[in-house]
Amino acid sequence: MPLRAAIRTIPDYPKQGILFRDITTLLGDARAFRKAVDDLVQPFAGAKIEKIAGIEARGFILGGAMAHQLSAGFIPIRKKGKLPHKTVSIAYELEYGTDEMEMHVDAVQPGERVVLVDDLIATGGTATGAIRLLKKLGAEVVAACFVIDLPDLGGARKIEALGVPVRALVAFEGH
Ligand code: PRP
Ligand code: MG
Repeated sequence: MPLRAAIRTIPDYPKQGILFRDITTLLGDARAFRKAVDDLVQPFAGAKIEKIAGIEARGFILGGAMAHQLSAGFIPIRKKGKLPHKTVSIAYELEYGTDEMEMHVDAVQPGERVVLVDDLIATGGTATGAIRLLKKLGAEVVAACFVIDLPDLGGARKIEALGVPVRALVAFEGH
């Protein structure tokens, strides 16, 4: 089954005029979930990836499976106030206003090869924040990967401008 068909589109969620791309249908379909994870890790076989960093919340589901498959560690990047140990944090831009995300200070060692994952890239604000956070701790961000790209919003270009290659499995034009 093509991955695109496993993603559900919900019109007018969370507000009027937005087409919400819902991956819960993909996650709930055993074959589609396996294919998505296989396709996400495929470029990194033998690439000596030490850690997968997943962005809360859907990036955790994909990132845990990727880390297992690549025999890598997993780093949670969380919304402010959720991590118990000492953290580094960074403000990032949302469609309206800003928010903060955090990582444990010892989640990554300088020079470690890390792949970032989230379910979707739109404006790229969230992923840009995550990459800046990883780089702050000295990680080598090998790539950023997503199930879904909304190319009209330009996020992938923003990430590539930071020198981080982007890979997405499905693109929805016109978001
Ligand atoms: C969604 C999505 C990405 C982010 C992408 O998360 O899961 O994390 O938006 O948008 P951007 O590229 O414009 O930054 P959301 O902020 O809705 O939070 P959630 O994952 O906790 O639901
Ligand atoms: Mg998110």
